[in-house]
Amino acid sequence: MSNLSEAELIHKFKGIPFTIQSSPELLKSLDTFDAREDDVLLVSYPKSGTHWLAGVITKLYNAQITLTSPIEYGDVSRLEELNKVSSKRIIPTHLDYNMLPPNFKNKKCKMIYISRNPKDTAVSMFHYYRDNPNLPTIDTWPSFFDLFLKGEVVCGSWFDHFLSWEEHANDKNILFLFYEDMKKDLPKIVKEISLFLGLNVDENDIQDICKKSSFSEMKSDTENVNSDPSHTVCALTSNRKLIFRKGTVGDWKNHFTPKQNRRFEEIFNEKMKLSEM
Ligand code: A3P
Repeated sequence: MSNLSEAELIHKFKGIPFTIQSSPELLKSLDTFDAREDDVLLVSYPKSGTHWLAGVITKLYNAQITLTSPIEYGDVSRLEELNKVSSKRIIPTHLDYNMLPPNFKNKKCKMIYISRNPKDTAVSMFHYYRDNPNLPTIDTWPSFFDLFLKGEVVCGSWFDHFLSWEEHANDKNILFLFYEDMKKDLPKIVKEISLFLGLNVDENDIQDICKKSSFSEMKSDTENVNSDPSHTVCALTSNRKLIFRKGTVGDWKNHFTPKQNRRFEEIFNEKMKLSEM
């Protein structure tokens, strides 16, 4: 919840709402971003499990990499900072496929896209709007629900974001993951990620990574004095403590009325009619 007005917190770039945490100058200069062939992009619509996935990936690499802040976070000076990172970079982003700097596509960098049931994503985002001072004030769930369906929230429409990436789901350098699959069988997904990244990780390490990546472990890590609370992989906050809320599947059932559910399904079916997923 913020004291600032929506106009003071949000600006639009190419029709998509961004917070002022992503400066217009930075967004304009992303097209010239110098990607490296060994960069790995961690892509998501906000509230899809980005931090969870980032936690798994950093543990898989075991300290040989730098998990940067999101490519669209900050002002133009950020690009210089990213250029200076000498180790392999894991770069988070909430950008849709069309806005991604072309260099990542030309160099066929590995990209992992994580998606989540949009109903749970909407609920998670609603709470995030309420807790995060960088986002406009939202009074009620019904008003947020309308904004979400219209795509008038940060990062724009969930549907457009998902569809822009789904078109490339079969590209060899892109791995598509679902939050719900991680909840169902984390070891299986961790193995899938390690194969995709070409890492050799044994069964014991996989079990250890899964244990350390549980919701409770990750949440309590943020309370740990040694953790850096200002390192977030979300371009909408610099406060990691806002991220670990409930971590469950199906919380939408505690928020959606039957009427809202019908409306959501109608719009989902219409927007996703060309989707294969
Ligand atoms: P909820 O708000 O539903 O709890 P992101 O990292 O993309 O911002 O996504 C945040 C969502 O992922 C939050 O969802 C958060 O609780 C959940 N999450 C973070 N770490 C998790 C973990 N280890 N296991 C399950 N869910 C996790």
